[in-house]
Amino acid sequence: MSFETASIPRVEGANASASASAAALTGPKLRVSGVSKRYGDVYALKESDLELRQGEFVTLLGPSGSGKTTLLMMIAGLVKPTSGDIWIDGRVATHQQPYERDVGMMFQSYALFPHMTVGENIAFPLKMKGALKERVREAVDEVLEQIKLPSVRNRFPAELSGGQQQRIALARSIVHRPSVVLMDEPLAALDKSLRTHMQMEIRQLQQELGITVLYVTHDQEEAMTMSDRICLMNEARIEQVAAPSELYFSPRTVFAAGFLGESNCLHGIVESVDGTTARVRHGGCLLEGRLMNAAKAGEACRLMVRPEAIRMVAGQRHADQAHGNAIPADVAAHVIGGAVSRTSLRTDSGVLLAATQLTTRSTAAPAGGVTVTFSAQDCLVFGAGA
Ligand SMILES: Nc1ncnc2c1ncn2[C@@H]1O[C@H](COP(=O)(O)OP(=O)(O)OP(=O)(O)O)[C@@H](O)[C@H]1O
Ligand SMILES: [Mg+2]
Repeated sequence: MSFETASIPRVEGANASASASAAALTGPKLRVSGVSKRYGDVYALKESDLELRQGEFVTLLGPSGSGKTTLLMMIAGLVKPTSGDIWIDGRVATHQQPYERDVGMMFQSYALFPHMTVGENIAFPLKMKGALKERVREAVDEVLEQIKLPSVRNRFPAELSGGQQQRIALARSIVHRPSVVLMDEPLAALDKSLRTHMQMEIRQLQQELGITVLYVTHDQEEAMTMSDRICLMNEARIEQVAAPSELYFSPRTVFAAGFLGESNCLHGIVESVDGTTARVRHGGCLLEGRLMNAAKAGEACRLMVRPEAIRMVAGQRHADQAHGNAIPADVAAHVIGGAVSRTSLRTDSGVLLAATQLTTRSTAAPAGGVTVTFSAQDCLVFGAGA
């Protein structure tokens, strides 16, 4: 994407966090209210709301083109919103220049300045804010200790590994203690093991220093392991904002259930609704599940069941309610894929279901007919609106 108002910080910052109002001290560190971005007739982001509390690590997660970078760039001041307002530490920042905003940035493509030493790179945001020379030196030393690279101060970026360069970019994003640090896929260019290591390092440092972070990734595992809350995005909208476990176990939409982890999907007709419990007819089976949105008897619905929630009872083919949620099926394939074993099951209505279980020495391939069972708690029912 291109930046409409991209500019490098060049003037002393206008942030005076010492004089923050009482509201700023108790309110959210970042507040996005009714913010949208339209390019011609197309929305890159529809009207969205989001709040980050002090010390929170929130991740924007979603498929390519869902609007993650657009939202981050508007908070950074590098893209102008079409509508809405942005508050940073209790102040309206919507019309502030990037260098006036109390944010730190770490982007995959936001490379270090190659002609500056590590020390000069890290010092850059402090110098832009007019910090005294002595203070700059102290802060750079301190942050180099924090990222465990105290001896590279006088090196140039080209003399560092990719992982070390990203650590320096991390140091530069936090050295001036901004209200919010914005990170857009900062680890995407690193190999898997270094990425996993850096994920832990960023999270640890963020928790130790109590930094507020808005992080972007399209890697669900990264989002699940690092975040206090995940803001799931889809087609220029915020789909759901929740803690990782809540998003995993109680997704509010079919998209959320399908995007995070794996889900089996069954189609059915709602038979009856009792509070948050729905009974659903699927072929010859009557199944019970948790209703995740509004649905009425007679309506079409979808049932989502995680592969790890499925149990197989070998040698029997039940479809009666006496056995709880029970679907007769035949084993189509069984693979021991290391720690997890995977079974493909074909139901009588022709649906292919995946079931996973932890591999043990006694794990054996079930053969022939089985009864597929799962609890009502693990069966999510989505009406047509989800
Ligand atoms: N300058 C621009 N002009 C026109 N359309 C744009 C511009 N910038 C972004 N878009 C469109 O806005 C939508 C959202 O883009 P955005 O870069 O925010 O997605 P993203 O979620 O960050 O995706 P990715 O995971 O691929 O980085 C896309 O459809 C994109 O093509
Ligand atoms: Mg992006």
